[in-house]
This record gives sequence, C-alpha cells and structure tokens, in this order.
Amino acid sequence: MFNTIFATVLLTLCGAQQRRKNVLFFVADDLRPNLGAYSGHHAPSPSDPAMYTPNIDHLAQSSLVLQRSYVAQAICSPSRTSVLTGRRPDTTRVWDLKHYWRLVGGNFTTIPQYFKENGYRTVGMGKIFHPGKHASGNNDPISWTDPYFLGEDDYSKNRLLWQAVTEAEERQTPLLDTQIADFALKTLNEVAPKAKSGEQPFFVAVGFHKPHTPWNYPERFEKYYPLDSLELPDNYFSPVGMPAFAWHNFSRLNTYKNVEPYHLHDVGAINYTFPKNLTLLMRRAYYSSVSFTDYNVGRVLQELDDLGLANDTIVSFWGDHGYQLGEHCEWQKETVFELATRAPMMVKVPGVTDSGMVTSQLVEFVDLFPTLVDLAGLPEMKLCPENSSQILLCTEGKSFVPLFTNPNITGWKNATFSQFPHGRNGRNGLDVMGYSIRTDRYRYTEWATFKPHLKPEWNKLHGIELYDHGIDPEENRNWAQEPSYANLRSQLSKQLRAGWRYVNV
Ligand SMILES: *[C@@H]1O[C@H](CO)[C@@H](O)[C@H](O)[C@H]1NC(C)=O
Ligand SMILES: *[C@@H]1O[C@H](CO)[C@@H](O)[C@H](O)[C@H]1NC(C)=O
Ligand SMILES: *[C@@H]1O[C@H](CO)[C@@H](O)[C@H](O)[C@H]1NC(C)=O
Ligand SMILES: *[C@@H]1O[C@H](CO)[C@@H](O)[C@H](O)[C@H]1NC(C)=O
Ligand SMILES: *[C@@H]1O[C@H](CO)[C@@H](O)[C@H](O)[C@H]1NC(C)=O
Ligand SMILES: *[C@@H]1O[C@H](CO)[C@@H](O)[C@H](O)[C@H]1NC(C)=O
Ligand SMILES: *[C@@H]1O[C@H](CO)[C@@H](O)[C@H](O)[C@H]1NC(C)=O
Ligand SMILES: *[C@@H]1O[C@H](CO)[C@@H](O)[C@H](O)[C@H]1NC(C)=O
Repeated sequence: MFNTIFATVLLTLCGAQQRRKNVLFFVADDLRPNLGAYSGHHAPSPSDPAMYTPNIDHLAQSSLVLQRSYVAQAICSPSRTSVLTGRRPDTTRVWDLKHYWRLVGGNFTTIPQYFKENGYRTVGMGKIFHPGKHASGNNDPISWTDPYFLGEDDYSKNRLLWQAVTEAEERQTPLLDTQIADFALKTLNEVAPKAKSGEQPFFVAVGFHKPHTPWNYPERFEKYYPLDSLELPDNYFSPVGMPAFAWHNFSRLNTYKNVEPYHLHDVGAINYTFPKNLTLLMRRAYYSSVSFTDYNVGRVLQELDDLGLANDTIVSFWGDHGYQLGEHCEWQKETVFELATRAPMMVKVPGVTDSGMVTSQLVEFVDLFPTLVDLAGLPEMKLCPENSSQILLCTEGKSFVPLFTNPNITGWKNATFSQFPHGRNGRNGLDVMGYSIRTDRYRYTEWATFKPHLKPEWNKLHGIELYDHGIDPEENRNWAQEPSYANLRSQLSKQLRAGWRYVNV
C-alpha cells in the first residue's frame, strides 16, 4: 500500500519535469514548539504566551507540519548526529558532545553527504553538526562541496544569560545568527544560476544558534512579550513520584553574570524555583530569541522567493530538541520528558503541500533522512540490519512520505523512542540510560544500568516512569507504582524493551 502512495507523491514531484528539486535545510538550536503553528493544545506548555513567529508560521501554511515528532536524545550532538546519519544513538555511539560518529560508531553517510554524492552542491553554515573537532571533526568536511561558514560570536563572551542588543550595537557588531542569515543570502545567490538552468541542484543547510543560551537578540523582539503579560509555569514543581535519575541539574545557569546579583543557592536541585522576577526575565529572553530566529528564517525564505527558486526547492525546518523553561522546575533539555523530546518539524514540498497539511501521527527525527531522500528522488535507503557499523548507507528511521498523501493514515508507527544517559550522584555520564517511549496516550520510561557494557541491563533498574497524557498532559504525576496501572505498565515495558524495530510496521 505504501508503495502506491509513495509512487503517487513521487509522480507529483518528478513526473512533470526531469529537473531535481533543491533542498533548503534549516535547523534551530534548543527550539521547542513555541511557534504560532503549534499553538493551543499543541503548545509546549499552557503557560506559554502567544508567539510572534510570522515567517515560520507562513512556511507552516505551505508545509506538512509534524505536530508530534520526537528526537532520539535531547541534547545537541547526539540528536543532530542521529538526524543527520539517520541512525539512533546506540548505533552512532554518540551520547555526549565529545565523540564523532565516524570514529566511534561507523563511517556513516550523512544527509548532505548523500546529496553531494548524488551531484548536489552542498553548502553548510552556522550550527548543523555540533561544532568542534571532537564532536564532528569540525563540521564534517566530507558532507560539503564548499568551505563551511561559522561566523564570529562576540556576544557570548560577555557571559550574560540574556542580553537585548540595541540597533546601534548590532550595527557595530552583528549577532552571530545575523551573519549566518547574511551568508545564506549570499549563498543562495551563488547557487541560483546553476539550479535554475538545471545544471546543478543545491542542498543549502542553515543552522541558527538561537534560542540556545546565552539569549542575545535584538531588543525590538522583547515588545512581543511584555513582562507583565508573562506567566510562571503552572507546574513550577517536580513531578510527583519522579525518580531521581530522571532529573537534570541545571546549575550551569547560575554561572552567568546577570544571575549573580540574585545570590542564589541550590540552583539545579529537584523542586528548586528561581525567584519570579528572574524566571520571567529568562522566559522573555527565550521567547524573544525564538522571534529573532523566526526573523532570520524569514529573510532566507524571502530571498529564495525573490530568486524565483521557491517552486523548485524543498524546505525542511526543525529544532534539534525541546526545552524546559521552568516547567517541572526543570530548565534546559537533557531529560526524556515530553518537553525535551518533542520538537518542531515541518517539510514544504512545492506542488504537494501548497495549501498546508498537518499530521498528529507519531514521527521520529531519525525519519527525516529517508524522507528527504524519497522527496528528492534519490536512490531509496534500506533499513539498517541489527549491526550496521560497517554499512555506510542505511537508516533506522522510516520515510514519512506516505503522510504527504494521507496525514491520517492508519497503521502508522505506534511509538517513538528517546533516551538520555545519567551518571551516578547527579553527575553526567553513562552509568544509567533512561529509555523512553511515547505512545498515542502514554509516556513510559525505564532507567537501566548502561555501563560497563554500554547496553541496557533491564534487570538492573533505577527508576520507572509512566505518565498518562489522557489525564495529565503536563506529566505532573508518575503512575508507575499505581496498582491500577500495573497491566498497562507491563505492556509498555514489553514494547519499550522490544525496541523500535517492532513498531516500525
Ligand atoms: C568514509 O567514507 C567516505 C565515503 O563515504 C570515504 O571518503 C572516507 O575515506 C571514509 N573514511 C574512513 C575513515 O573510512
Ligand atoms: C516536588 O514537589 C512536588 C509538589 O509539591 C512534590 O509532590 C514532590 O514530592 C517533590 N519532589 C521531591 C523529590 O521532593
Ligand atoms: C548540581 O551541580 C552542581 C555543580 O556540579 C553541584 O554543586 C550541586 O551540588 C548539584 N546539585 C544537586 C542537587 O545535585
Ligand atoms: C527579585 O525578587 C526578589 C523577591 O522575590 C527580591 O528579593 C530581589 O531583590 C529581586 N531581584 C531583582 C534583581 O530585582
Ligand atoms: C509557483 O507555484 C504556484 C502554485 O503552483 C504558482 O501559482 C506560481 O505562479 C509559481 N511561481 C512561479 C514563479 O513559477
Ligand atoms: C558489529 O560488527 C562489528 C564488525 O563487524 C564488530 O566489531 C562489533 O563488535 C559489532 N557490534 C556489536 C554491538 O555487536
Ligand atoms: C485528518 O483528520 C483531521 C481530524 O480528524 C481532519 O480535520 C482532517 O481533515 C483530516 N485530513 C485529511 C487530509 O484527511
Ligand atoms: C504497537 O504495535 C506493535 C506491533 O504491531 C504491538 O505489538 C504493540 O502492542 C502496539 N502498541 C501499542 C501501544 O499500541
């Protein structure tokens, strides 16, 4: 059945003309679905304000919007490595920011690399891979046909957790994401002639750094989020019955200069709350940074349009994972809660999604690679075997091309898989791995011994969580020990341990 649907979409895509579609590939850092396109009960939290994100919302109106898409591991390098190689952290063996999959997992082909091997000009800028030699051999040179563009960050050196930058300051020292958007415009102009003549299509990847900390953004975006209109999270407490391993210690936030005057103690502890004044300032800074990212995405999309390329270019947009803004008393990512694992994703396919499509099917970020390959008509990717360390090209995801024909298709994935490691005594490390599934209604997590074998020992558990989204969409209460949930708990445990291959129907 999928093959027929697949053929229909491909026909729409490639049938009319031989020319291959270009790809414009956006990534935003630490962006939870705080976008107009994910408002109402799709917003991350009921205490979020209305978001000012007109450009991404406009993109959403001509895209397939994935309302329930989940990352493999809620931190930059493991998540990005998983998306970009189409494999999961236990295969890439990237669970932290210090390892490069080509050295520890296998010499796996990436999305841009595969487009490059198929004749595309591939240009990357900003943050696509996690930067640095250790995480990506400095932005994975194999992936690109052109030199990589990073830009200069002169603001982060200030060690200010938030900074509203005036117009005069920006004129003198452009923000990093402004430089990246400028470079994207320049790049599009450079790749346009050959793309339009049909000589060489492009894959241009634009990675913005905001809304990652430190939150520096043009001052003008604050006006959309007046402090007196913002709210504290309505669940400014840690989940009832939460095991300690589920917790991420965010004490790093207390190392910024503008947090010092508050003289805080115990920052990062379970049930720790920042004072209200500081909480609201941090929330405003995050939301303002999101609007700044929206502005930058808008500039690039406008140029694509002005160059007459929009009808021949597939556009994908995603955030590398979610974020906690005080909900559960938690901050940053680095958990397996819904807020950290769910992130926005949308894909625009000209001629297919022009009037906008929305799906609430469960989708995993590892599915993006095979999807883009299908949409561009590149040779299809095969499912990876159990041990794929020697296989350069395969995927542990599943193309969601069928959702472009029927976003309400039945028999789709019935669970998504995410994970996060923790050290003992509240430290970082691989001692224990939290494996988590999200089904239509539940989130279920087991914290299993991981070291020394670097695989889960299911008979050595350090905590179990079961959240019932049917009655508790914010995951405020862990029902794992509740007798009435015992049957459900053992079913979910079976499904979790069986793994992703058994739901990938
Ligand atoms: C990795 O694969 C690429 C081609 O996909 C090849 O050019 C490169 O030499 C390989 N690297 C190693 C270390 O095998
Ligand atoms: C955190 O606060 C909640 C709500 O008051 C409480 O139920 C929970 O037990 C607390 N957690 C810990 C570990 O103290
Ligand atoms: C959080 O981490 C900081 C820095 O490592 C540490 O000093 C603090 O004790 C930790 N807090 C808890 C509750 O573990
Ligand atoms: C923040 O609010 C607290 C009271 O909760 C107050 O003591 C403190 O002075 C305020 N700090 C600033 C920097 O406004
Ligand atoms: C792009 O496609 C739309 C919808 O098919 C069409 O209305 C528009 O004229 C096209 N624009 C260009 C520049 O071809
Ligand atoms: C996968 O295969 C490689 C070589 O074929 C081997 O070195 C490695 O140990 C295997 N990994 C697992 C987890 O079995
Ligand atoms: C999918 O289902 C939703 C809700 O039931 C409905 O509003 C929408 O029109 C359906 N979409 C398609 C393309 O069938
Ligand atoms: C998901 O599908 C698998 C395979 O068909 C099945 O074994 C499992 O019970 C299903 N789980 C849920 C939560 O529906």
